[in-house]
Amino acid sequence: MKDTLETAVQIAKEAGKIIRENLGKALQVEYKGKRDLVTEIDKRCEELIYKKIGCAFPRHGFMGEEGTRKSGEDEYVWIVDPLDGTTNFTHGYPFVAVSLALEFKGKIILGVVHDPILKETFASIKGKGASLDCKPIHVSKSDDISKSLLATGFSYDFKQDPGLQIKLFDEFIMLAQAVRRDGAAALDLCYIAMGRFDGFWEMKLHPWDTAAGVLILKEAGGVATDFKGKDYSIYDQEIIASNGLLHKPIVEAISKHI
Ligand code: IPD
Ligand code: CA
Ligand code: CA
Repeated sequence: MKDTLETAVQIAKEAGKIIRENLGKALQVEYKGKRDLVTEIDKRCEELIYKKIGCAFPRHGFMGEEGTRKSGEDEYVWIVDPLDGTTNFTHGYPFVAVSLALEFKGKIILGVVHDPILKETFASIKGKGASLDCKPIHVSKSDDISKSLLATGFSYDFKQDPGLQIKLFDEFIMLAQAVRRDGAAALDLCYIAMGRFDGFWEMKLHPWDTAAGVLILKEAGGVATDFKGKDYSIYDQEIIASNGLLHKPIVEAISKHI
């Protein structure tokens, strides 16, 4: 598995180089939905990752955000967000990542989230802990929600369905020390894993947004559930992620609104 991780890190870095070299440049932007953007760079990165994964692991399946699908000959599937933070990217806002996860028999066993701007690489193999640039990482020890730094995101259809998302933002901005909305869920999760953030919640995410980040978070001692506190599956749309110590207060705060 160590060799597989090294290969995944190399591939994430290659895609990251394309992102870094194109950040802030005028790009062709298409709309998948009213606010859901895709650029030629998202597509180029997905193509590159698909090609490289295909060469290294020809029997594995593939599921990429931009629509690339391959059913494998065994039970391994790569779940890939080639560019997490596309809205940031189109504005030249440097909070973006490449996210690669490997699923085996329905469970995520390996994850890589690479930030090509800060050149930070978060990685994990299930059961072997999590790392940032090869050094072990752990969640924060913060146990007081009033002193916590939380993160969230808003779904692309937010304007059609703002209700609960606004209520929760309102709730936590009063409860926590501060709330950040930085626009790349994969990195938000890794930031909890290494203690920059203490907790996170979001609705309407997709498997490619969370697959790698949640493994990294859990292997760093964190917890991920749905809004009711049930163990999180990447096929759930709602997520609460935390350092563990703050999980109960976050679940309780959300339960007042659902
Ligand atoms: C988005 C980002 C963002 C989150 C959105 C995601 P994309 O992914 O992770 O933080 O709020 O819900 O869709 O479209 O930039 O890959
Ligand atoms: Ca994403
Ligand atoms: Ca994406």
